[in-house]
Formats: sequence, C-alpha cells, structure tokens
Amino acid sequence: MSEFQSLRGFHDLLGEEFKRFKYVSELVRGKLKLYNFEEIVLPVVEYLEVFRRSIGEATDIVQKEMFAFQDRKGRWLALRPEGTAGAVRAYIQNRLYALKPYTKLFYEGPMFRYERPQAGRYRQFHQIGAEVFGSIDPLVDAEIIQIVYEILSELNAKVIIEINSIGCKVCRPPYKEALSTYLRTVAGHLCEVCIDRSDRNPLRVLDCKVPTCKEAVKEAPKMVDFLCNECREHYSKLKEYLTLLSIPYRENPHLVRGLDYYTKTVFEAVSEELDVALIAGGRYDYLVEEMGGPPTPAVGFAVGVERLSLLVREGLTEDPLYMLIPFGDVMDYALLVAKALRSEGKRVELSYKRAGLKKQLELANRLGAKYAVLVGEEERAGNFYTLKDMETGHQLKIELSPAM
Ligand code: HAM
Repeated sequence: MSEFQSLRGFHDLLGEEFKRFKYVSELVRGKLKLYNFEEIVLPVVEYLEVFRRSIGEATDIVQKEMFAFQDRKGRWLALRPEGTAGAVRAYIQNRLYALKPYTKLFYEGPMFRYERPQAGRYRQFHQIGAEVFGSIDPLVDAEIIQIVYEILSELNAKVIIEINSIGCKVCRPPYKEALSTYLRTVAGHLCEVCIDRSDRNPLRVLDCKVPTCKEAVKEAPKMVDFLCNECREHYSKLKEYLTLLSIPYRENPHLVRGLDYYTKTVFEAVSEELDVALIAGGRYDYLVEEMGGPPTPAVGFAVGVERLSLLVREGLTEDPLYMLIPFGDVMDYALLVAKALRSEGKRVELSYKRAGLKKQLELANRLGAKYAVLVGEEERAGNFYTLKDMETGHQLKIELSPAM
C-alpha cells in the first residue's frame, strides 16, 4: 500500500458513487433553472471574518469546525464551511442590489468542516445552494420549500420537511428570556454544554441530541407562541401556501438550525432512514445589512450533494456503449469507424488492448458494452463494420457512410 493516503474526511468521488453524485447535481441544477436562478462561482477561500460575522461566533461551525489558517501576510483566512456567507459577500461587493429589485443566485462546490466523519458526513463535501435576495414575501419561502420538495419527490425519498419560525429582532429577545428562565429550572437535567448555552445561546439547547436534554426541553416554551404579529402572519401565510401547493410538512417548534443568521422561517428535510438533514435552509433578513450592504431580506437553502446521493438507488441509465474491437492490422480503419460512430452521437470505446477476439470480447463485457463493433481486414476491404449485440450474440453488417 502506498504511504500516500487522502486526509480523513476527504474522499475521492469515483465510479458508481460519482455517477450518483452527478445525477443529483444535474437534478438540482435542472430544478433551479426551471425557477430561473442564475449561477455564480464563489471563491473557496474567504477572510475568516466573513464566516465569523455571518454564521456566528458562538456556533459549532465557527468555534470548532473551521479550516482556518494564516496566509503569508499573516491574514486570517478560512476554507468556506458553507455558501451563504460568500454569496452575501459577493452580493454586496458586486452591488447586485443596484441592478434588480430582487436577485436569485445559485452556486455549487466543495465546502469544508472539521467534523467527525461518519456515513454521509465528510470534512470536504459538496453543496448546491440557492439564495433569493430582496424579498420579504412568504411566497418566496414557499417557492424555496417547493423546490426542495420537488427535488426530494424525484428521488422518491422518504423524507419529511420540518419547518419552524424563529422570529425576528422584535420577538426573539423576549422568547430567549423566557427560554433561559425555563432552562434554569431544568438545569439539573442538562449536559455541560447546554448549561453553558442556557444564557448565551439558549435556542441551541433545543436541538441538543443528548437524551436527558431532549427530555428536559419537551415542556420548554415555544418560539411560535412568542411570534410578533408580522412574524406570525408571515409564518401562517407560508403554511397556507405549502398547503395550496400540496407540500407535506411537519411543524417542529424545536427546529433552530446551527447557524446564527436565521430569522423567521427555518426548515430542514430530514431523511427518516438515515436520520440526517439532507437539505436545509431558511430566511436571513438582517445578514446583508450586518455585512455592510443595504437592508435586504433574503431566504435560501443548500443541498448536501453527497447526502442526497445516498438516496439514489435505481440503476442510472447511460447511453449504450459501443466497444470497437479491431482485429488484425487495421488500426487506421478502426480510428475512422470510431470517428464515424461518434459523429452519429454514439458512445464509443476504441479498444486499446492488443489481443485476440475472444479476450477483446471479454473486455467489452467487463466494460458493460451493449454492442461490440468488430473491424478486421474483411470489414476494411468492404468499407463496413460488424455490429454484435453482446446480449443476444446477433450480428449485423453495417456499411460505413460514404462520407467516410
Ligand atoms: P447547513 O444545514 O449547515 O446549512 O448545510 C446544508 C446541508 O449541507 C446539510 O443539510 C447537509 O446535507 C450538508 N452538509 C452539512 N455538513 C455536511 C458534512 N459535514 N458532510 C456532508 N454534508 C454536509 C447551510 O450550509 C446553509 N448555508 C444553508 C442555507 C442557504 N441557508 C440559507 N441559504
């Protein structure tokens, strides 16, 4: 075994896994095109501050999971752990707000988080994310969740979309107070981390996975009962739209998400089989302003491409493979036949293996060829090729088009 190995949590995407990955990527991109999102390519590295400011100082991502480093000039940089922060930075820096009343962007690429690797969780993984800047309308939240639902439906995924509203600047502070007060009464049942969070970041206690904490927060006050008029109306309109669109959802009053920028709507599509979030997102109405842009409400989501790939089961169909098998000294002719078939749009593998017909046919089988295209002296002399169906063994002589 070579001494060179990829890093833990960094994986090669190849073979069947790559095909599933590509399938998901194309499915999501196709959907986003139907909704008229415009693609942008964002840098993988940003100033650390871009992430700290947006995702939040007290979050796990910023505190424990960043690939942060100093460059040669001593500046603190980081590999992006997600795409929203960079998209917001780009939206402001390129003054996109000045071009249109609202802007719909999507991006695809690798993200990096120093998490403990396990099934479906990597340190380098890929997201496709979409963001809508410039509208406060719950219609946009509904369309975002509609895209998520349509993606999941096409994958026949056993997934539930959970939604919640986590309020705004007006209604969240009194809720936080009430929650902190409640958490003090159950402090004896909370884990160390949650005790620590009870005052600073009490919302995060709601989604702690430790069983005693889960039990202790069951009776905790709910954000939905504290929503101000604007947030309550926004949330109920969203639910109306989802019902109108026949999108099944479950309200989860404990859904809070691990990033600090959210306001109002948050949602996650959770796989029942895998018990992980496959797609997640929500609204972030203050982030653009907090990062130096004009006040701009926004909402978006991101798909974990590897995670969603885990749901692709049925065999992926590919164009049939034509394996071109030259036998004898007919390489020139074989090159021309391959060229002719490819110009007809056929997927052709010209065999590089110099061996007898039997060995070549074995190789064609191994590569999953549907047809073998046999070319020998006789074919060259007659300007044709012999097409052999690999399954039935049936053979056919086919003339090359005169243009060749
Ligand atoms: P997030 O929930 O942190 O949200 O990540 C979104 C998705 O990325 C997750 O649901 C999951 O599928 C995938 N993911 C996250 N971490 C990993 C990992 N370590 N390995 C594999 N997949 C992973 C965000 O990133 C927000 N930026 C989403 C958003 C966009 N909100 C508004 N706009």
